[in-house]
Amino acid sequence: MKHEDFLEAYLQDRCKIVEEALERYLPGKDNEPRELHAAMHYSVFAGGKRIRPILCLASAEACGGDLAPVMPVACALELIHTYSLIHDDLPSMDNDDFRRGKPTSHKVFGEATAILAGDALLTEAFALLSRAEKIRLAAERRLAVIQEIALAAGAAGMVGGQALDIRTDQQAPDIGALTDMHRRKTGALIMAAVKTGALIAGANDRKLSALAGYANHIGIAFQIADDILNVEGDETLMGKSTGSDAALGKVTCVSLLGLEAAKARLAEEVGAAITCIASFDARALPLRAIARFIMERKS
Ligand code: IPE
Ligand code: IPE
Ligand code: MG
Ligand code: MG
Repeated sequence: MKHEDFLEAYLQDRCKIVEEALERYLPGKDNEPRELHAAMHYSVFAGGKRIRPILCLASAEACGGDLAPVMPVACALELIHTYSLIHDDLPSMDNDDFRRGKPTSHKVFGEATAILAGDALLTEAFALLSRAEKIRLAAERRLAVIQEIALAAGAAGMVGGQALDIRTDQQAPDIGALTDMHRRKTGALIMAAVKTGALIAGANDRKLSALAGYANHIGIAFQIADDILNVEGDETLMGKSTGSDAALGKVTCVSLLGLEAAKARLAEEVGAAITCIASFDARALPLRAIARFIMERKS
């Protein structure tokens, strides 16, 4: 099967099972307070590529694990990611009006409810992770999974990266500082997705470290692609505004390196990611395809 056909069918199938699971795990949209639950549902089911949960599943698959025990973890990652997007779009952050092809949460529900919906999604994610009956794992491994995600989402990871991102509005970092910021704001959650999938599948240390290398490179690649798409992407396909980085004078991979060099760097990172998992068998085919998807994606 051609790479594109395999990838499309794979992503579609995984997207569907992730969304079905999200429906099961998320508190009902008619729960009280209604506006809070409606806002949570609105953003979670606004679309989105579901790349973090899909990576978590694909990583488990590459290590010979089943999908079912990974699903709550995969979904928790998507809830955390969605919360981060709601808060990232707020007027006090990036002040964006569109996300996933729809008006942003604060545009629809107001700023206070958007903040609360983000808070609730983050907290629900950890409630889901802690529910013993959902994850068939020894307590020690479950704790390792929860810790991995907590560290990736918090000040040492994603939130810390967002704080650096705000600061770089005022000062021009070099490519090293920019990469560090990317590693935290985008890479950390991607790393957690890949690692936790492998942990649940019972991967040994050698496999875990190869996968961590893979995740490190695709995390960086993902943010470079995001910077490139902000310059030359199609707003309709992407479902969010483009051109905003330049308008805000943000330092990005493209502003530092130029478009062509940024694209070359993106290809290098994807190649390096695939090399890291060279010793894996055909069960790592999805991980290899996802790495290429990150480079080729239009949204
Ligand atoms: C967008 O993430 C924000 C970044 C971390 C660059 P995605 O591109 O994965 O967004 P969705 O989930 O598909 O909407
Ligand atoms: C979003 O980064 C990253 C997080 C929410 C952690 P950006 O602000 O660069 O991404 P977009 O362009 O809004 O999706
Ligand atoms: Mg931002
Ligand atoms: Mg943003």
